[in-house]
Amino acid sequence: MDKVYFCILLLSCVLVACERTNSVYPLDTPALLQMYRLSRAWFFQTYGRNEQRSYSGKTGRVQEEIPSNVPFPCNVTGGRSAKVPDSVNRLRPGDIDVIAGMGDSLTAGHGLFARDLLESRIENRGASGAIGGERTWRTYLTLPNILKEFNPNLIGYALGDSQTIEPKSQLNVAEIGAISKDMPFMSKHLVDKMKNDSRIDINRHWKMISLLFGSNDFCTNICTDPPLSSVERHRTDLVEALRILRDNLPRTFVTVNVSPHLKILVDANKERFSLKCYLLSNLQCPCLFGTQYKNRREEYYDLISRWQEVEEEVVAYPEFHKNDFTVVALPTLKRIQLPLAEDGLADPSYLSSDCFHVSQKTNALYANGLWNNLLEPVGNKTNHTYPIYERFLCPTEDRPFFMTRENSPNNNEFRTSQKKNN
Ligand SMILES: *[C@@H]1O[C@H](CO)[C@@H](O)[C@H](O)[C@H]1NC(C)=O
Ligand SMILES: *[C@@H]1O[C@H](CO)[C@@H](O)[C@H](O)[C@H]1NC(C)=O
Ligand SMILES: *[C@@H]1O[C@H](CO)[C@@H](O)[C@H](O)[C@H]1NC(C)=O
Ligand SMILES: *[C@@H]1O[C@H](CO)[C@@H](O)[C@H](O)[C@H]1NC(C)=O
Repeated sequence: MDKVYFCILLLSCVLVACERTNSVYPLDTPALLQMYRLSRAWFFQTYGRNEQRSYSGKTGRVQEEIPSNVPFPCNVTGGRSAKVPDSVNRLRPGDIDVIAGMGDSLTAGHGLFARDLLESRIENRGASGAIGGERTWRTYLTLPNILKEFNPNLIGYALGDSQTIEPKSQLNVAEIGAISKDMPFMSKHLVDKMKNDSRIDINRHWKMISLLFGSNDFCTNICTDPPLSSVERHRTDLVEALRILRDNLPRTFVTVNVSPHLKILVDANKERFSLKCYLLSNLQCPCLFGTQYKNRREEYYDLISRWQEVEEEVVAYPEFHKNDFTVVALPTLKRIQLPLAEDGLADPSYLSSDCFHVSQKTNALYANGLWNNLLEPVGNKTNHTYPIYERFLCPTEDRPFFMTRENSPNNNEFRTSQKKNN
């Protein structure tokens, strides 16, 4: 099986190589795109649809199921406003009617349950931390599965394994391999998709949209672009994408989920060396894993940190904060740490079988962190992950709303420093 996978990988490398030399993507020709889609559909049919997952527990890559006698951690009474709020600064968790997400393979749920390399190509969108809604929080901790407890009528989350063009993907428009440059296009596509959806009342429903981009830029672009240029282009792309959302979608709460720092992946693979992981990481992430760039790794780590800061800076621009629209940065992945195994090294069950993507358990950590971030004040949001359910915040009488730039206390220092920058 793994041999087939290596062939596929090789083919992808050839495609990537073409992409580097031409400014036109080979997939941009309609005939090739059609072929690519058909081959992926065939692949999903043959190897995918592992939603049965009777093996789930055995791989160790899946969170433990929470038994039905354990109640949901928060009291959900009063979690939805009696009257639909007008202000984005007075949103309770149950006020979100529609959820959507864009990003790359992390958001597409690439290989979350994979037992082998072939299955690692399946997109398990239903269990994706930011935008999956398969089953409930007891089986898969995801942000939509948490929000569903407050509002059972929530829509938009992905329903199961699927590609983005299939109905099960719902409003998860993430694509594997997506880079920062794709954000404006994806924003337009998402706006169209929402406006087309007969279930959505664009003016009345509150919408939450998450963005997560960066890993592919770090893996394949950061070492070929001039220093800092990818970071500054990211600023431009992000501003453009956010303006598209702001100008087309009333009543919208956007979260920019700060990119993970990929140093943890490099360290995890270094500590626990295996030839398979070495080869796969080199192929999938040459800039950070390739020996030819080893001397420049520290420089790339700095660029990734800078990228993360740029995301936080853009989110604070005053133009993105209106009465019915806001953007918040959620930094839980900024310094993500993989939990340790018994031998004291990073626990490989948090990674997928390709050693590079992540497993369902990491998505549960991520969802838990996003949820906490939403309830923490701006300027004091936790920038790392905790083990699943170790720290699970709940709305309180004093702080019943998702925290925004406007409703966060003690945020004056933060705002002053932003004003100086602008
Ligand atoms: C939940 O909160 C409501 C309103 O504050 C209260 O009446 C109820 O007793 C709480 N339920 C539990 C199980 O604590
Ligand atoms: C929206 O609907 C129109 C008409 O049904 C269709 O042509 C178009 O492709 C749809 N767009 C999206 C993004 O679904
Ligand atoms: C920031 O968060 C920490 C823990 O998350 C808390 O102890 C501290 O009081 C918070 N500070 C402010 C100013 O809210
Ligand atoms: C993470 O948060 C801590 C505590 O607020 C802060 O001291 C630290 O600088 C932050 N790190 C990054 C990379 O933002």
